[in-house]
Amino acid sequence: MKQKHATTPSLDTLFIKTYGCQMNEYDSSRMADLMHKAYGLRLVAKPEDADVILMNTCSIREKAEDKVYSELGRYRKLKDKNPNMIIGVGGCVGQQEGERIQQRAPYVDAVFGPQSYHQLPEMIHKIRRERVNVTAIDMPEIEKFDHLPTPKGHGSVGFVTIAEGCDKFCTFCVVPYTRGPELSRPVNDILQECQKLLDAGMIEISLLGQNVNAYRGLGPDDEEWDFTMLLYAVAKLDGLKRLRFSTSHPMEMTDELAIAFGELPTLMPYLHLPVQSGSDAILKAMHRGHTRDDYFPIIDDLRKHCPDIALSSDFIVGYPGETNEDFEQTLDLVRRVNYDFAYCFKYSPRPGTPASKSEDNVSEAIKDKRLQRLLELTREQTRAAMKNQIGRTVDVLVEKESKHAGELQGRTADYRIVHFQGQPRQIGQIMPIRITESYGQSLRGELILA
Ligand code: 5AD
Ligand code: SF4
Repeated sequence: MKQKHATTPSLDTLFIKTYGCQMNEYDSSRMADLMHKAYGLRLVAKPEDADVILMNTCSIREKAEDKVYSELGRYRKLKDKNPNMIIGVGGCVGQQEGERIQQRAPYVDAVFGPQSYHQLPEMIHKIRRERVNVTAIDMPEIEKFDHLPTPKGHGSVGFVTIAEGCDKFCTFCVVPYTRGPELSRPVNDILQECQKLLDAGMIEISLLGQNVNAYRGLGPDDEEWDFTMLLYAVAKLDGLKRLRFSTSHPMEMTDELAIAFGELPTLMPYLHLPVQSGSDAILKAMHRGHTRDDYFPIIDDLRKHCPDIALSSDFIVGYPGETNEDFEQTLDLVRRVNYDFAYCFKYSPRPGTPASKSEDNVSEAIKDKRLQRLLELTREQTRAAMKNQIGRTVDVLVEKESKHAGELQGRTADYRIVHFQGQPRQIGQIMPIRITESYGQSLRGELILA
């Protein structure tokens, strides 16, 4: 049996619950590496098996705080059974709520934000030594990345954060407040992290940032490099087969970036370029910095340089003041662009954002109706694009076993999910697959045997 000391019981296991975006997934894996290095903690799949539970939270939409508190209620029961358990709440809700979390849930030992999780080992040390609650939600000038161990990586796709935060201040969005100002990591740090992941066996690199194409980082020549320069450098790394990035902002698109899609064989033909709305009045109210007519030439340019590029966008319906006519403009934009994928959301006011000061005056019923209409249109576009794939032979990076026995799941170059029959040893490889069927939002295919 595990020997537990009366004052400093041993910590062996860690459970991390992650909500939200890929940046949070990345942060969670860095937290796991950090806790492994500092305390030798081993990740477990269930909270009941953990000595330390960390929640990496998201506050981008809806009542994220409520979800956090209800999950915390579950953890409280576990802590009642194991009083030495340490519970931490990190991520954007941690940043936003700060000490309010411990006022409402005093059994939470640590609260921290997306820019301060490198302090976790010290925080845990303090909790154990002084038996106090700790909060770390400052946004230090120093780079958290300097304090993190080398990422170990697992699977075949490696994620690398290239820039943090956002300076765009779209009126509906909490990110500039929770993740702080935009900060680009130096080129060499990024290249080294990518190379380590490739050396560890990963073949795809996905560059992450709230606004990756706004990247402006210090180059090895002491000059400022933009995002396209960085892409060309990453594309040269040994062992790289596939390169992706997300998320991009229309205002930061350049001709050079569109050309890169045509020129770089490893840069995968898929771009997520959120436009949010097709109405000029709403785009202006949202502080997006461009009109609908600015968006179309960007799409044309991308398709000129990379005719097969798959495109996706995020949309918000029911932003304060959105009229039927505004919404029709969004449908019109969607019809003109013809997206491969779309992510559609009902507007919800987020604490502290400028939009939350305007009345949330589009009724829930109208938001629902608009969301349904937009989903019908965008799903139909996805279905048509998927059907087009039938009969093609495409390269699929096999990512994991699928939910059905004997089946594997992977992604095409243009980010479509494909299911097929295969062997687990094929995971991590790029295999030729002939597409035989479309399920509407994903595909089915058969392995082409050499
Ligand atoms: N309400 C609804 N959707 C939102 N998003 C961000 N903030 C809000 C909000 N307050 C959506 C945007 C963004 C995506 C990540 O989440 O579409 O691109
Ligand atoms: Fe939020 Fe706008 Fe920044 Fe995207 S660009 S993270 S929507 S503020």
